[in-house]
Amino acid sequence: MLAVVTYHHQFKFDRLRTMDIKNKVIAVTGAARGLGFAMAKLLSEKGALIALIDLDIEATNNAVKELPNAKGYACNVAQEHEVVQTFLQIKEDFGHLDGLINNAGILKDGLMVKTNDDEVQKLPLAQWQAVIDVNLTGVFLCGREAAASMVEQGSGGVIINISSVSRAGNFGQTNYSAAKAGVAAMT
Ligand SMILES: NC(=O)c1ccc[n+]([C@@H]2O[C@H](COP(=O)([O-])OP(=O)(O)OC[C@H]3O[C@@H](n4cnc5c(N)ncnc54)[C@H](O)[C@@H]3O)[C@@H](O)[C@H]2O)c1
Repeated sequence: MLAVVTYHHQFKFDRLRTMDIKNKVIAVTGAARGLGFAMAKLLSEKGALIALIDLDIEATNNAVKELPNAKGYACNVAQEHEVVQTFLQIKEDFGHLDGLINNAGILKDGLMVKTNDDEVQKLPLAQWQAVIDVNLTGVFLCGREAAASMVEQGSGGVIINISSVSRAGNFGQTNYSAAKAGVAAMT
């Protein structure tokens, strides 16, 4: 069975503490720091083999040193060719893939429009697009490549997509809220 879950819905992270994940291969995006690294560390402590995927190669290399049986992959999750190549490399390095945590995400907050005296300032398209590219398209691309691997190997798998309470809308987060709502919907 291939299960795709989002962290605000069905999945209880406490279940990780009792799950047998020894020697399962789990890819975590945005794993060089923050929540991604914390999840990678917890999974590693439970015996999983971790593929850390991140844009920041120096931070990824430092993170890899802290986990046994982990490998790091420099990858921009918003770039299709990099994502395709990364998941092929993970399969070559580990032989298979059992799980993905789609965690990489960025913030570029700003009001869609705001007034400054008589002037109306608009949120630049680039500020919208950057967040959609990483937080929505990146989740799609990594989820697609992981799911394709899991279907091909025929042994099931789990994909966890990290959304946010902002998926219901948040002031100054037009881009982030729309992306996170999209993540919840696609999941
Ligand atoms: N921190 C919170 O309070 C919170 C709340 C709700 C949801 N989230 C979500 O959890 C996830 C992690 O948040 P965090 O606070 O740990 O973030 P963070 O900024 O600490 O770490 C994000 C990591 O993602 C990497 N990254 C950024 N763009 C990337 C790209 N294009 N390709 C590959 N890697 C990239 C960064 O290099 C960094 O290592 C995000 O999806 C975020 O939206 C966080």
